[in-house]
Amino acid sequence: MLNGKRILLIVTGGIAAYKTPELVRQLIKAGATVRCVLTRGGAQFVTPLALASVSGDQVYSDLFSLTDEHEMGHINLSREADVVLVAPATANTLAKMAHGLADNLSTTVLLATDKPVLAVPAMNVRMWEHAATKSNIAMLRARGVTMIGPDEGEMACGEWGEGRMAEPEDIVLALSSFFGSTAPLGGYSAIVTSGPTHEPIDPVRYIANRSSGKQGHAIAQALKELGARVTLISGPVDLPDPQGVKVIHVQSARDMATAVEGALPADIAVCAAAVADWRVDNQAPQKLKKGIDGMPSLSMVENPDILAALSRPGERRPQLVVGFAAETENVLEHARAKLAKKGCDWICANDVSPSTGTFGGDQNTVQLVTRTSVEDWPSQSKFHVAKQLATRIAAHLGAQKFAHKPGEAS
Ligand code: PMT
Repeated sequence: MLNGKRILLIVTGGIAAYKTPELVRQLIKAGATVRCVLTRGGAQFVTPLALASVSGDQVYSDLFSLTDEHEMGHINLSREADVVLVAPATANTLAKMAHGLADNLSTTVLLATDKPVLAVPAMNVRMWEHAATKSNIAMLRARGVTMIGPDEGEMACGEWGEGRMAEPEDIVLALSSFFGSTAPLGGYSAIVTSGPTHEPIDPVRYIANRSSGKQGHAIAQALKELGARVTLISGPVDLPDPQGVKVIHVQSARDMATAVEGALPADIAVCAAAVADWRVDNQAPQKLKKGIDGMPSLSMVENPDILAALSRPGERRPQLVVGFAAETENVLEHARAKLAKKGCDWICANDVSPSTGTFGGDQNTVQLVTRTSVEDWPSQSKFHVAKQLATRIAAHLGAQKFAHKPGEAS
């Protein structure tokens, strides 16, 4: 994914620096060459020897080292790379970057570079939410610095929230989509849901449906091939994970809802999963016994509606939200009603009556319903439906950049 790319990795002083040898290993595995700059703070959490061993190169630390300056020099260090990656990027380093300070080798390199800069923030949640950090991040973004993460989760300090450094595999994916940014969906991120959900009755039985995940997985792959950074959230399926896509495996609708929420923000969301509308409220803690427990009586409760939640207006709403409507009668009419009720931008109406073989099969016949139009697509393979949808999404977002305000979809 990163074949031949030269990455200058600047490691600054946060606890997440301990993950950087693994990051270097994954970058190299993806085909990149990596040269490291380690700050004094960074060296408290990871040793120069560890980074030198995995990168196969010397590690640079000292602005005033005659040897370092003689061998490479801070200007060359910044120029002999395709990108500069700052990971972890502490609040302190981000502040210095925003204000143009150059008081050590890393900040000097960052001020001297003419290459794209990607930063992977990592800090305590309160530091991340502080107005000063927010304004520094806004300033850096406006200047073209790409931010990767941060993730939400438990912090080293025991607090919970946004501020964890993105995982090494996510950084590799972000870089590969950055390098693919000349592709139609380069720079965009997408969430795709796929497959069925399993709603437990007891520890061994569940309620499910016939979705195979073929359609959703093909969409994830097609969006990735157009350059998007894709997170695929899949219910239990019998398919391999698409390559170059981050896959989160879930079981139930509630797991899927949590995973989708955790994958936000994203520019695009495509909900192709056949999410169970209901789950069993009185789930048995032990296997129900025939003859002892009698005929089970299942009490059902509604599951969270993932598509409706994604479509709700707000800061984290993706720019384009696409749903699917699986119908067995009055397909178009029901699809239009779902589009309005759930508040998504487009809905792919598909006839799933048993005679069509859509559920589980390789073919699909889709009508793309927008708020103003209906497009009849030919009956074709799920692979081609996915390609057509991804291309349509890319064309829409490309046109929207110029014609619409964000959040408005035709
Ligand atoms: O997986 P395959 O075998 O390849 O089959 C593909 C498919 C038929 C499953 C797919 O093309 C499809 O139609 N997916 C949607 C199936 C579905 O559950 O449709 P629905 O009409 O019940 O739901 C409408 C939309 O709301 C869907 O986008 C669904 O993902 C979403 N939804 C539904 C319920 C819920 N609790 N949360 C949701 O997000």
